[in-house]
Amino acid sequence: MKLRFATLSILLLSSTLVLASSSWLSKVPKADRARVNPYAGNAEAAAAGKLIFEDNCAKCHGDDAEGRHGRPSLRSERVAHATDGELAWILRNGQAFHGMPSWSSLPEQQRWQIITYLRTLLTDR
Ligand code: HEC
Repeated sequence: MKLRFATLSILLLSSTLVLASSSWLSKVPKADRARVNPYAGNAEAAAAGKLIFEDNCAKCHGDDAEGRHGRPSLRSERVAHATDGELAWILRNGQAFHGMPSWSSLPEQQRWQIITYLRTLLTDR
């Protein structure tokens, strides 16, 4: 009985580890990761990105991007350490299985503007 419990615990633990290591970041191809945001640091693009964020993203990630109802904060270490290219990848592809839609229906320019806006959030803490 004790042994069975131990086996079960190990099984549960290893499946948790597998889930944790399957973060979307590990799926991003190298070429995508290295893509450069043409609007990096551009204040007008950040202002445009803020409006697009409010229209499309705030309902899940919160007006302040702190996350809500189990959706992740976008003011996190993980987002801070992601490259612009990695963020562009998740915006284009989403993570439908985890509840993050694809935003490929938005023009690419608008997705870069959102990323420019997200960068301003990470520096104003
Ligand atoms: C319907 C709810 C919903 C909407 C709307 C939504 N997201 Fe998400 N988002 C999620 C969920 C859920 C996750 C977690 C996905 C996962 O765990 O892989 C996520 C993850 C992310 C991540 C990765 C965060 C991390 O820490 O790994 C980024 C970046 C992101 N969203 C940006 C956006 C942006 C920008 C928009 C608007 C264009 C947006 N999201 C709209 C639900 C949403």
